[in-house]
Amino acid sequence: MGETRKITLTVNGKTYRDEEVEVRYHLADFLRQNLGLTGTHLGCEHGVCGACTILLDGRSARSCLMLAVQADGTDILTIEGIARSDDELHPLQEAFRDNHGLQCGFCTPGMLTTLLEFLDDNPDPTEEEVRIAIAGNLCRCTGYQGIVAAALDAAGRLRKEKGV
Ligand code: FES
Ligand code: FES
Repeated sequence: MGETRKITLTVNGKTYRDEEVEVRYHLADFLRQNLGLTGTHLGCEHGVCGACTILLDGRSARSCLMLAVQADGTDILTIEGIARSDDELHPLQEAFRDNHGLQCGFCTPGMLTTLLEFLDDNPDPTEEEVRIAIAGNLCRCTGYQGIVAAALDAAGRLRKEKGV
């Protein structure tokens, strides 16, 4: 093991204290290897594909582009923390399931975290706005049609939940 530091952070509502991590590890490595949260995927490892997208203090971030030590003191949400409970998916997840928004699923965690932030900022988007929002997330399977349909469907479900 190389040089290490201890970091404390919250991931999916659980606080991890004094976690020892190699300083060379990027955040995605830490989530996957130290915490066992392998839902965050690694595609390109240089900020292009979006597969590693997580929410860091509520904003989307490429976990391959920052070091784990830089996440010290932050609050992170990964795909494992999105569902409402063990028995209830998030409406965005339900919409992906119902609209065939995924095939192999490799891009899906990054798509969902990206869209969670987007729909929070823009609860009633146009199709074009959805396409722009996911422009930084590459999908090699779906042709994006199902993903866009799922995002628009999820927006409607979330608005209905809020009564707007
Ligand atoms: S793995 Fe991070 S953007 Fe591709
Ligand atoms: S579902 Fe396979 S890469 Fe998007």
